[in-house]
Amino acid sequence: MSLLFMNAENKITIKSVSIDDARLPAVIHDAIGNPSPDKVLEVIGSYKNSDHSITGAFIGNILVGILGLYKTSEVITIRHISVLQDFQKQGIGTLLLEEVKKQYKGCKIVAETDTESVDFYAKSGFTCHEFKGPYGNLRYECELNL
Ligand SMILES: CC(C)(COP(=O)(O)OP(=O)(O)OC[C@H]1O[C@@H](n2cnc3c(N)ncnc32)[C@H](O)[C@@H]1OP(=O)(O)O)[C@@H](O)C(=O)NCCC(=O)NCCS
Repeated sequence: MSLLFMNAENKITIKSVSIDDARLPAVIHDAIGNPSPDKVLEVIGSYKNSDHSITGAFIGNILVGILGLYKTSEVITIRHISVLQDFQKQGIGTLLLEEVKKQYKGCKIVAETDTESVDFYAKSGFTCHEFKGPYGNLRYECELNL
């Protein structure tokens, strides 16, 4: 466990993030494929629908991680999860997932991801099934019943 983890852990606040938050583009960026500035803003705009929400992890005033989802009946779909590179592997992604698990007890969480991040979901208790993406790339459909 790094010193940064020890410091960060005590100061992390989890709370809702507005789509107008100027810190959001830089954090959601890495969870978006081919993230041109326009595409990032378009994706953020899609969260204005009332069934969508974004939860953030803050260290002081720094937004270090986000988890964006939408809810349809009893299914929660994670659309984006991202932690700033300097703060990765310190438990922040897990904290964001824990918040969703607490909020949506009794629901099913689903997420689609790639080879790079599938282990994050597997380690968080999700069952992940491989499938071939539109460009022949490997993708994973992950799910967890709460
Ligand atoms: C995926 C991501 C959100 C994980 O956040 P994080 O704060 O680094 O995750 P945690 O520190 O809570 O990690 C929990 C566990 O998963 C593992 N893990 C985290 N990211 C991983 C990754 N990309 N690949 C494999 N394992 C990973 C950690 O090592 C840890 O395992 P451990 O408990 O055995 O030590 C983060 O790596 C990220 O932002 N990646 C870029 C964006 C992205 O790819 N998003 C997902 C697709 S939309």
